[in-house]
Amino acid sequence: MDGRDLVRSVKMVGSVRGLRTVRSSWRRRSADARALPPRGAERARVPGPVVGAEPEPGGGVVRFARSELRVRVAVGGAVFWGWDGAEPLPSYALPGAAPEPDPRAVLEPDKDGGWQVVSERLTVAVSRHGAVELRTPGGVVLRRELPPRWWEPVAGGGARWVQRSEVPADARFFGLGGRASGPRLRDGVYELWNTDPGGRFGPGDDPLYLTMPVQLVVSDAGTHLMFHDNSWSGRVTLREGEEGAGSGHDRPGMCEVRMDGGPLRCWVVTGTPARVLRGWTALTGAPALPPSWALGPQHARWGFGSEREVRRIVAGYRERGLPLSVLHLDIDHYDAHRVFTVDHTRFPDLPGLAKELREDGVRLVSIVDPAVKAEPGNAVFDAGAAAGDDGAFVRDARGHVVRGEVWPGECVFPDFTDPRVREWWGGLYEERLAQGFSGVWHDMNEPVSFAAFGDPTLPRSARHSLEGRGGDHREAHNVYGLAMARAGYEGLRRLRPQERPFLFSRSGWAGMQRYGGTWSGDVATGWPGLRASLALVLGLGLCGVPYSGPDVGGFDGSPSPELYLRWFQLGAYLPLFRTHAAIGAGRREPWEFGPQVLQHARAALEERERLRPYFVTLSRLAGLTGAPYVRPLWWRSPGDRALRECEDAFLLGDALLVAPVLERGADRRAVRLPRGRWYDTATGEVYEGPGQVLLDAPLSRVPVLARAGSVLPVRGADGGVELEVWAPAAGRGGGGPVVLDAGDGWERAEVERYTSRWVDGRVVVEREGVEGPVRYPVRVRGL
Ligand code: GLC
Repeated sequence: MDGRDLVRSVKMVGSVRGLRTVRSSWRRRSADARALPPRGAERARVPGPVVGAEPEPGGGVVRFARSELRVRVAVGGAVFWGWDGAEPLPSYALPGAAPEPDPRAVLEPDKDGGWQVVSERLTVAVSRHGAVELRTPGGVVLRRELPPRWWEPVAGGGARWVQRSEVPADARFFGLGGRASGPRLRDGVYELWNTDPGGRFGPGDDPLYLTMPVQLVVSDAGTHLMFHDNSWSGRVTLREGEEGAGSGHDRPGMCEVRMDGGPLRCWVVTGTPARVLRGWTALTGAPALPPSWALGPQHARWGFGSEREVRRIVAGYRERGLPLSVLHLDIDHYDAHRVFTVDHTRFPDLPGLAKELREDGVRLVSIVDPAVKAEPGNAVFDAGAAAGDDGAFVRDARGHVVRGEVWPGECVFPDFTDPRVREWWGGLYEERLAQGFSGVWHDMNEPVSFAAFGDPTLPRSARHSLEGRGGDHREAHNVYGLAMARAGYEGLRRLRPQERPFLFSRSGWAGMQRYGGTWSGDVATGWPGLRASLALVLGLGLCGVPYSGPDVGGFDGSPSPELYLRWFQLGAYLPLFRTHAAIGAGRREPWEFGPQVLQHARAALEERERLRPYFVTLSRLAGLTGAPYVRPLWWRSPGDRALRECEDAFLLGDALLVAPVLERGADRRAVRLPRGRWYDTATGEVYEGPGQVLLDAPLSRVPVLARAGSVLPVRGADGGVELEVWAPAAGRGGGGPVVLDAGDGWERAEVERYTSRWVDGRVVVEREGVEGPVRYPVRVRGL
């Protein structure tokens, strides 16, 4: 028990929950001690010298004395390699079949006795001792993987392994899921184990709820995404390189991946950042398209507590003329915190309330927790216990159902890695739909089981189906939230086939974008938490999860009016724009911070509504191309090193650059600009990038710049779409895509492409491929 554990257990003991939590922690510890004996003697292994090679479609197998390596280039350009016979499947990250091998890529002998696979975008060179080098077609090295090392238990069982690699000295690391200290991942150790930090987190807390072994590496040599397809617990150690270190030589950057088991197999995608995200989402699945109402302002709170309070809040928005699109109900609307129930005393007519709000343009979204109260008479428990031959709940190594402690008390946990359990669970969402909910918010799915000491989750020895293959929690833990998201998403699709599901989930893993988005979790109220909010959204976007956002205002405590406002102003430009807070926290409604904050928050809400057609466009583009709505400043110029260091601003699509205020008391801020001409959208002032400028950031707004030439759809004064066009620089052109809101079903939406250019002293806007005047009113700005 470490110090933190001790504090935790002292806080909990004394209550009934405390005692149960202590008991459950002991149970977890002894289950693991029984089923997972400490590691005995181990034998280290490296591949050894090369002994031969055989071609296969897309590459081939290189054989070593003590291992073999399969390299396969897939159609579309992603490259797979796997040691010890590992194949792309089975995989939780890939949606179904693995992509076809690219027949043009062939295995051929390399110099010095190695082998190489040459493809259109990448050469994979395998040395005679098993180092793997990734080179661009121009021969520049993007990454060099040293021969891996395994530790095998002498008595049998799975091997641990480590893979060390080098990247260019100027490379910067991003990704690894949601990391509060990012977006740029500095030197340190990053755990791969989805974890509820307990209560709240700040930039120093790692890991958090949603980890994934996905790194995006940007250097002058190029951008690549590296995915270790392995869901086991592990850790990634990163060290940035240094140019001209030591005696004038570069010290390369270093990345070491250590996994506690599971296959050593990777995918790599290279190209421009846009191309990398396109390739990554082609491999792991297109991001689910949120219904358009999920792009509007949302409000939540743990502890609305009653229908009356819900009405009061919605009326508060309406009376002040503040837009509100979604209201979320947290666990306090459940009957005694039991999932798929309603407290009818405090919510006597939820369907009626939902209908009334819906008529007022407000949708209801429900929290859904995975843990099921273990209590005969609880319908979900009874049904889960009776499902199939051995029930729906996770069991321990001795076959007993694992019990843990969550909000409702003693709970059991559905095994979402079992397809039959997913199907059963998905069907339960019918109850939510009947209550009038339009979407779901998955929580506590790391999964959490409160612990007085040790890891607040299930025993590592707990058994899981893992799609029928069988395995334990060490392998299933990180994909538990992903598999639950699949269950919910597929259930909603079956129940409401005409509507796109709205789902976002606290935990997840590579590929979760297929089912929905995520949010920050319990980000600590404070300026560091505000900064962490942006880091999470940026980092997740680079891992292929484009829809996310923080608890605006922070989860706990009470933000100062200034902090609340700055958070609100940031949130207004993020995909998920939602105020939320803990049950004991201060208020988060925009009118609770005085008239000045209300006035400025109103402006942020109105601007969000004005930009709704642009958000719709960005959501569609994310679905089509994997490009996140929120992008780092280096997105279009990864070679600009100053931009790689910049973590306090972002691009919203291609057209806008948002520079939130992340510091207390600031009324100006420095903004780093990518190359090209930029307009301050508030003042019309023109700036030329690359460079850094100092901009006014009064309390009333945060700096937002528009790229010269860009065309973006906005909502006009009459509610219709109009095109906002920012004058191109002289002699240059510009443009932008527009995708109209095609409803909340599965309609394909047309991507319209517009261009802007100067003709005879006028800015002319045209639709590509379509003659004649454009169909929307056009407003040219920046003249
Ligand atoms: C977790 C969630 C938080 C929610 C609370 C109660 O802490 O992260 O958003 O309000 O549980 O359900």
